[in-house]
Amino acid sequence: MPSYALIVNGAQYSVDSWDPEQPLLHVLRNQLGLTGTKFGCGAGQCGSCTVLMDGATARSCVTTVAAAAGRRITTIEGLGTPEAPHPVQAAFIAEQAAQCGYCTCGTVMSAVALLARTPQPDRAQIAQALDGNLCRCGSHDRVLRAVARAAREGRKST
Ligand code: FES
Repeated sequence: MPSYALIVNGAQYSVDSWDPEQPLLHVLRNQLGLTGTKFGCGAGQCGSCTVLMDGATARSCVTTVAAAAGRRITTIEGLGTPEAPHPVQAAFIAEQAAQCGYCTCGTVMSAVALLARTPQPDRAQIAQALDGNLCRCGSHDRVLRAVARAAREGRKST
């Protein structure tokens, strides 16, 4: 069976798959047990499956395992911990920027990517960067405040 070398949250994995088109999302969740990344639409439209690939956002539901091989992938598990949350996670907690929380991990990953490239975004830039992360609960305003808080506190993400 073909295998693919993945670098996820700084660790190296060799993942077996018969299908080079297998979505990275399925590999992360089902083979690596990284269930923070969520399946929403499965079509690249909702953002709940967002991860970072070489520092840029990627929709893991439409990224194949073959395309992910050799790239540096970061999932929500690679950011902080409950005891020591990443600055963006801390800002989301401080602003209570979630309701059901299903979309939150993907949204946090998009915010991390934004702040890495634009450490002091204005509200319009935040809104634009998170435009592809849909929240059915309607927590968008709190999300915007959380990202602004993270930026304001001068916390850069990687
Ligand atoms: Fe990937 Fe919706 S599950 S964008």
